[in-house]
Amino acid sequence: MAMSRSRIYPLLAEEPLQARIRELGAEIARDYAGKDLVVIGLLNGVYMFFSDLTRSMDLDFEVTFMQVASYGAGTESTGEVKILHDLDRSIRGRHALVVEDIVDTGLTLSKVRKLLLDREPASLRIVSLLDKPSRRRVEVPVDYVGFTIEDHFVVGFGLDLDGKFRNLPYVGIYNPA
Ligand code: IMP
Ligand code: MG
Repeated sequence: MAMSRSRIYPLLAEEPLQARIRELGAEIARDYAGKDLVVIGLLNGVYMFFSDLTRSMDLDFEVTFMQVASYGAGTESTGEVKILHDLDRSIRGRHALVVEDIVDTGLTLSKVRKLLLDREPASLRIVSLLDKPSRRRVEVPVDYVGFTIEDHFVVGFGLDLDGKFRNLPYVGIYNPA
């Protein structure tokens, strides 16, 4: 059966998403007041959350991106993480905040975290819009979480199924059957 929007069931509507992102942005801005901050987005999934979150952070900081590949086609983690695009700014001695769309097995973030810690930032924290703790295979500290969700495969608001549905302004559960 072809992928179709009719298989997507709304989970987080636009309004509660935006309200929670504004809360996160305000909390993060308070925590980093007066600090030299670099905000790192993990592409591609984070693009929509990143844009809304950084706009809600009333603070001066730099933004940069890293692209890692963790999922092949389909919905299962391969356990392999490949760096496709690296940061264009140094984080040595600076405060780094990694922005992620969703933490699932934790494999991607734990790998990215180790790699970034090797560059000796003053601190390293993680913010993720969504968290699926029941799927965790490795421990990874997530400092700010937008929403904790059950074990569903979700799409929309940056999250994809084989590259599709990222542009939806809400998060929905994709039901294949
Ligand atoms: P992890 O390495 O298993 O934690 O997976 C992290 C990455 O897998 C996320 O950044 C997403 O790109 C992708 N992913 C995990 N769960 C979902 C989902 O429910 N929908 C879409 N992508 C997901
Ligand atoms: Mg991602």
